[in-house]
Formats: sequence, C-alpha cells, structure tokens
Amino acid sequence: MDVIDIEVTTLSAACGAEIKGVDLKRPLSDSTVRAIKDAWAKHLVLVFRGQSLSEDDQLRFASYFGALGDRKKAPEQLRSRAEGTQQENQKILLVSNIKVDGKPIGAFGEGEFWFHIDSGYTPRPYKYTFLYALELPSTGGNTMFSNMYKAYEAVPAALKAKLEGKKALHIHEYNRARQANSSGDISGIPHHFHPVFTTHPDTGRKTLFVDRLMTTRIEGVSAEESAAVLDELYEIGERREFIFEHVWRLGDFLMWDNRCTIHARTDFPKDERRLLRRCTVEGEPLHE
Ligand code: SIN
Repeated sequence: MDVIDIEVTTLSAACGAEIKGVDLKRPLSDSTVRAIKDAWAKHLVLVFRGQSLSEDDQLRFASYFGALGDRKKAPEQLRSRAEGTQQENQKILLVSNIKVDGKPIGAFGEGEFWFHIDSGYTPRPYKYTFLYALELPSTGGNTMFSNMYKAYEAVPAALKAKLEGKKALHIHEYNRARQANSSGDISGIPHHFHPVFTTHPDTGRKTLFVDRLMTTRIEGVSAEESAAVLDELYEIGERREFIFEHVWRLGDFLMWDNRCTIHARTDFPKDERRLLRRCTVEGEPLHE
C-alpha cells in the first residue's frame, strides 16, 4: 500500500499552505499527487521549500496537473522588450530583471507588479502557474496572492445582482504597475471578455475574476459606471485579509491556481538580480 506522508501547514487565514515531505525531483505516486491536489483545492497556493529542480524536473512535476502551457507570444511591436534571450523552451518563461549585453534574458523585468491573472487576457487563461526561485534580491520582490473566493463572498449583494451575467474586458498591454489602456483601437492587442464572476470548473465555487492591471471595462454599462464598479471590485480583491504574501527563499517552489487567485509582486532593489523559472498548465474557457 502507498503511504502518503506529506505534511500540510496553513500559512495564512487567506490562502497558502506549505507542503513538507515531498522531493519534487522524484517521480511521485498517484496518491501523493492526489494529496497535493486536495491540498491545492483547499489552500489555492502551495509552497515547497528547499527544492533543487532542473527545467525538466519542473516540467515533469507540472505535467501531473495537466497539459503544459506555451509561453504567449508578445505582439510584434513589443517583442524585443517582452521576449527574453535565454528562453529556449516554449514551455518555460524566465521571470527576471537580468540583462545580458543590454538585452533581457527573461520577462517581467524589475520593480512592482500589480495584481493580475496570468494570461487572463486570453480565451483560456492558464489554470496553474509554477514558479521556482533561482536568484533573489536581498529584500522585496515578494509575491502576494489574494483569495478570490473570499473576494466574491465580500461583494455586496446589490452589486452581485447588478453584475450578474456581465462580462469584463481583460487586455494585455505589457505594463507592470500601470493599468492597461483599452481606450483606442485594441484589435492588435491580445484581449478577451470573461464573466465578472466565474464558477471554478473543479470546485464549482464562485470567484471574482477581475484584476487591477488588466481588467479595464465592464461591458453594457457606461464608462463612468464601469470605472466606479471596477474600482470597488479591485479594492475588494486586494483587501489585506484576503492576501497571503510569500517572502521567497532560494529553492522555493510555488504553485497557484489562476482561476481563484490574483497575484502581485512587491518592489525590489533595481540593482539586484532576481530570477525565477515559470511554467504553466493550459486552461479552458471560463463560465459564470
Ligand atoms: C508572475 O506574475 O508570474 C511573476 C510574479 C513575480 O515575479 O513574483
């Protein structure tokens, strides 16, 4: 019989748990994967400390949870800024501020990164993201996660009723700490309308599916009303009591569910290196 000996420790009242007793370098049994999935559904963000993972180890582990996602191609005019020079594998994205010969080796550069959903601007946002720490600054660059089940529950009933059946525009403009601009012709910019409230396909629970960085407009209401409502929704989604903030250590491996969390990064010193290796699992269309 397979003995499951993983240890799950809750990290905050909002979300997040640390898993001990698993070496992600090694192939895992079905029951261990099941135990990780159960913990993930409950805690939304899982942290594994002290891992030592090659690119192949990371991809093998991620593929226990679904088909691996491809890195999204940046629009032509932004490609030199958004496509790192050291990302050979289409399944891997390097989250880094490091430049070699003046060119970024990865993506997402330096500094603060507002709350967002990974590839929320596509028809099938990534289900899952997996991030592994390789080089870290001496301070900052923490990743914060907000529990969007809790955010949904906190939306006042009248606002829930008003937004029932409504969709919102998610657009990718490659800013990190300034809201995407969707006022002009957006035909050349990746974008998609998703329901404001989605039902998580696995848990059947309702979530708030908007973020400050890339959700810019609610369809079917005036621009003024859309802006006011979105401000209220961003504020609910970013309430401190819904947030777990992860302070990275080398060897940390994090995995999160993009369908029920949003995440952000705190600022860090510009002259210090930060490098994390990311992969994803493909998503599916989301419904209210
Ligand atoms: C991301 O948004 O995928 C990266 C987050 C981070 O740099 O901490």
